[in-house]
Amino acid sequence: MTLEEFALDLDCCEELMRSMESCQNYRNELLACKPSRSITKIVCFGLGTLSHVDPFWRTRSLLQTAMVIVIMEVLGHKLKKTAAGGGGAIPVPCFSQDPAYSDLDKEFLASRGITVLEDPKGFLEVDENTLVIALAPAAPVRQVIADLQWPGAMIARVVEEGSEMVLETEMVDGVEHPL
Ligand SMILES: C[S@@+](CC[C@H](N)C(=O)[O-])C[C@H]1O[C@@H](n2cnc3c(N)ncnc32)[C@H](O)[C@@H]1O
Repeated sequence: MTLEEFALDLDCCEELMRSMESCQNYRNELLACKPSRSITKIVCFGLGTLSHVDPFWRTRSLLQTAMVIVIMEVLGHKLKKTAAGGGGAIPVPCFSQDPAYSDLDKEFLASRGITVLEDPKGFLEVDENTLVIALAPAAPVRQVIADLQWPGAMIARVVEEGSEMVLETEMVDGVEHPL
């Protein structure tokens, strides 16, 4: 795969995501909500590799990454509203941890404002002003975060036992890779 192919596929998923009524409703709810603490950072776990050979898993990861980009944009607008002096949306730092990311994933995600962190550095980025996004990570993310530092907010989905969400993986040199 190439960076150009990644860009085409992610743009397509982003367009699809933005056209969905559920995404527009979610966007409006996020814009309207007044959290007790401002959210100034996003840390994601287990979004999956965009280089996956299986189109099912690849599309899921592309859609979840597109969703993160929409959330980054909304939070940037919210920060702008609260900042003095106006100006454009304030870029919200976004980090993502998944041991399955390839070098190409890392380069591409960086071009979209998402910095890939090696395990366990994602956990160390979480603070009280962080939105954690953990979508079916094959790791006990909520438990680790509960032990280390409670985030400002969390969007999480767990892997349900017996569901088709369970991705088979293999360990290579201590790193988990999807099969
Ligand atoms: C079941 S897949 C879910 C992928 C995608 N979020 C989805 O819903 O299709 C689990 C993912 O968690 C990742 N993972 C495993 N260990 C992890 C860790 N320590 N931190 C973050 N992600 C991890 C795997 O590499 C894999 O991409």
